[in-house]
Amino acid sequence: MTLNAKPKLTRAEFGKTPEGAPVQIYTFTNKNGLEARITNYGGIVVSLKTPDRKGAMADIVLGFDTLSGYLTSSSPYFGALIGRYGNRIGHSRFTLDGVEYKLAANNGENSLHGGVHGFNKAVWTPRELPDGGLELTYLSKDGEEGYPGNLRVIVTYHLTDVNELKLDYAAMTDKDTVLNLTNHSYFNLKGGGNGDILDHLVTLNADRFTPVDAGLIPTGELRSVSGTPFDFRKATAVGARIEQNDEQLKLGKGYDHNWVLNKNGTGPSLAARVEEPSSGRVLEVLTDQPGVQFYTGNFLDGTIKGKDGKPFAHRGGLCLETQHFPDSPNKPKFPSTVLKPGQQFHSTTIYRVTTSGASGGR
Ligand code: GLA
Repeated sequence: MTLNAKPKLTRAEFGKTPEGAPVQIYTFTNKNGLEARITNYGGIVVSLKTPDRKGAMADIVLGFDTLSGYLTSSSPYFGALIGRYGNRIGHSRFTLDGVEYKLAANNGENSLHGGVHGFNKAVWTPRELPDGGLELTYLSKDGEEGYPGNLRVIVTYHLTDVNELKLDYAAMTDKDTVLNLTNHSYFNLKGGGNGDILDHLVTLNADRFTPVDAGLIPTGELRSVSGTPFDFRKATAVGARIEQNDEQLKLGKGYDHNWVLNKNGTGPSLAARVEEPSSGRVLEVLTDQPGVQFYTGNFLDGTIKGKDGKPFAHRGGLCLETQHFPDSPNKPKFPSTVLKPGQQFHSTTIYRVTTSGASGGR
């Protein structure tokens, strides 16, 4: 084995969009044998193969083997980059500098994940970086999906030798706009398609969450998790309280909420830790964003068949979407999502995979 080998990045064709645009798939491998595959269609993390505590590899993200799987409207954002505004904007409108902007209502009366043709459906311009990273660029035109300003977005992916998949987001605009970028990977640490995630132990570094109304729009309150099924400050199985008779769990059909991350300092810090006891796989998510949407795959129902034709069960994957709070453009008290000309938006999210030591637990 070569010492200090730079993670490898290779490229292959992944197919064409219905409009005829060719799409590539990039494969990262690091010195420990981890493998991540990313396509420039939607910036999707197609696969992430990691070892269990005995060294057996599994692909821990949900998705499809082929581009056509992702092109169908039934793909619930598997692995994709989300923008221009990740999560929901209430009543599909917001006012900025005295001007009201109207967005497509694609989630009841609300706008979800950037609208009908969000960043998850864009063909991004790829560039292989000298340091072994992959850069994806997209220009979202002024007025696209109703949002103001030409927005240039650059997302770079690195797979490090310390088993981190690192995503760096950058953006610039030529008019005041709003922005909320995230990645929508669904994780199942037993391997995608291998049952549900109810036995996964989750820790969230958050004392508060943002309760929602029936359309999953935050009410504006930052509520303490204390004494509620939303308290994940100590590792707790996803399924331990998910069926409790709790108003917020009923509204979300499970967990589908934004947690307010505890922060000191501005750099990436630990937002979430997930451990799957039987394989020992552990996922840690670090971010500099103020929130994380913890979504437990409540809308998966076994009808979507993914890699190797395996169906994705109800709650067959969980998402940890690092983000600003939903509906921030209409919530003046939430941290601002406004980006102005001359400002540079920067954000980093790291997915770190390890294993827990002893068999059967920590
Ligand atoms: C997000 C939302 C969920 C759902 C999924 C996609 O996580 O919060 O309500 O829309 O995306 O199915």
